[in-house]
Amino acid sequence: MNRNSKLYEDLDQVLVTREEIARKVRELGERITEDYKGKEPVMVCILKGACMFFTDLIREIDLPLSLDFMAISSYGSATKTSGVVRVLKDLDNAIVGKDVIIVEDIVDTGVTLSYLQKMLYQRGAASLKVAALLDKAARRTVKDLKVDYVCFDIPDAFVVGYGLDYDQKYRNLPDIGVLSPRIYEKK
Ligand code: IMP
Ligand code: MG
Repeated sequence: MNRNSKLYEDLDQVLVTREEIARKVRELGERITEDYKGKEPVMVCILKGACMFFTDLIREIDLPLSLDFMAISSYGSATKTSGVVRVLKDLDNAIVGKDVIIVEDIVDTGVTLSYLQKMLYQRGAASLKVAALLDKAARRTVKDLKVDYVCFDIPDAFVVGYGLDYDQKYRNLPDIGVLSPRIYEKK
């Protein structure tokens, strides 16, 4: 999709371009390939936000990995977290004794991730790491949350694109941009 697209008119600015994303994702894939040498990690995609990051990332990891998917909800359609995490779709396979990598779109307050980490640890994963596309560290409320791999640190702004949504829209933008507040303030 071209940047002249009408969807881009709802952005205040493009924060991370598709080229920057591709480069960082490739680097991260190479890092994970090194770090998990000799292992067969289970890559867990947190739907829906991480879908694009996930499919790009796994193609840059040169290991006999497997995939699983989990859908959770923590937002509703507002731009502020509700603090309540609901599992909408659980993993298909057991993760006992597996090296699990959770793939998330963005770590904001950290509530979602800390909940997920606790839950997956309790299921007996041998190891558990987190790869996040974006980190909005300024908004963190959960203390001592460890995010092992991050592609981009971003400021405190509501962003959409490359999988991230506002009210289920804008996920298909190939770039990541700051959504203009006029879009959610008029609601
Ligand atoms: P947390 O629990 O506050 O860390 O929120 C994590 C989830 O909220 C992410 O997985 C996203 O789905 C959503 N989220 C947080 N910030 C943004 C944003 O700027 N744009 C779109 N979704 C966001
Ligand atoms: Mg999400």
